[in-house]
Amino acid sequence: MPNFSLAARDAVRQLNISRIREVANAGMQRNDVMAFWFGEPDQVTPDFIRRAAVDALDAGETFYTENLGIPQLREAIARYVSELHREVSSQNIAVTNSGMSALMIVTQALVSPGDRVVIVTPVWPNLVEMPRILGAQPVTFPLTFTAAGWQLDLSGLLDVLSPDTRAVYINSPNNPTGWTIDAESQQTILEHCRRHGIWLIADDAYERLFFGNDEGLAPSFLDIADPQDRLVSVNTFSKAWQMTGWRLGWMVVPEELACAVATLIEYNTSCAPGFVQRAGATAMQAGEAAVKDFNVRMKRARDFLVQHLTVLPGVEASQPDGAMYAFFRLAKASDSLAFCKQLVDSVGLGLAPGVAFGAEGEGFVRWCFAASEARLAAGIERLKEALNYE
Ligand SMILES: Cc1ncc(COP(=O)(O)O)c(C=O)c1O
Repeated sequence: MPNFSLAARDAVRQLNISRIREVANAGMQRNDVMAFWFGEPDQVTPDFIRRAAVDALDAGETFYTENLGIPQLREAIARYVSELHREVSSQNIAVTNSGMSALMIVTQALVSPGDRVVIVTPVWPNLVEMPRILGAQPVTFPLTFTAAGWQLDLSGLLDVLSPDTRAVYINSPNNPTGWTIDAESQQTILEHCRRHGIWLIADDAYERLFFGNDEGLAPSFLDIADPQDRLVSVNTFSKAWQMTGWRLGWMVVPEELACAVATLIEYNTSCAPGFVQRAGATAMQAGEAAVKDFNVRMKRARDFLVQHLTVLPGVEASQPDGAMYAFFRLAKASDSLAFCKQLVDSVGLGLAPGVAFGAEGEGFVRWCFAASEARLAAGIERLKEALNYE
């Protein structure tokens, strides 16, 4: 038998396997495991969105579409972004087969082998591994954990954003910490990036899952940037519209980049499925109430989980401002990967190890709270059992 273990390119062989997956793979076959390890809601996509996809299939929409997405969806997204942030046109919108695909395509468009890219961490591991696939040099810049939660050392970040930096990736509200950047810090970073010609890639996947203001909308670089800024905002239908399995996302790009992005979409996936795009258009046009309800539900779930976690001995949990995760330090999780594997084995509780999100996440675990109170409460009981706490 040939041994192909060395067949993949060096850059690919050197990729880290997701340690969230490593824990999940060990327990996914067991149906007695209560899983909170992935970032996904425990409810199916709202019915009116599913109906739109079924209707499109019934109408025979089984064909390729435009690379950048069907005009109806691009226009709906442009209207949505213009209402939330600033005026954009459908020429600025690229529809992709997921937020992940949007991140990969914008990276392919902008980042060359050897380029220095900076990523604020802890963060969803894909953001750090993805530039490595293209041979880029990711440099991580860690947030700091304080009694008031995770914080950004702004001047430290500016120092790291040297003039030879090609791009900076900022995910806010952040997975896993819930840290959300404020508008003044965004302004400072934007001006710095303008000065040095650094591309800003904003991962806005959780912008509608923000709990720090009445609108439930996090500050966005789109609010303050000009159309000619080197800014790409990446977004997804996965979280706010509860559409993880549909694989539909988009990005807002300067018009000058749209053509390159269309070419790259052609050579990656060619287009997102037409009937999925129709469902996306319905989600945009009629989904505001569902998005707001989901935000309210997530805020309640956050309060419930954090309140029950903070009373446990050895737990240090801050209240996340956004996203859908509690990211808490646990005295017994100094080796978070081993601890999470053991949690699965001993009490059937599935959490994600903090180290998966960066070295500074070691000692922490992530719990996705997009679940009912009953499930969260049952999970807490299992954690107590594992910690021998009654
Ligand atoms: C920070 C962040 N960005 C982007 C995504 C991409 O989501 P999707 O590929 O499902 O659109 C995720 C998914 O978990 C995420 O956590």
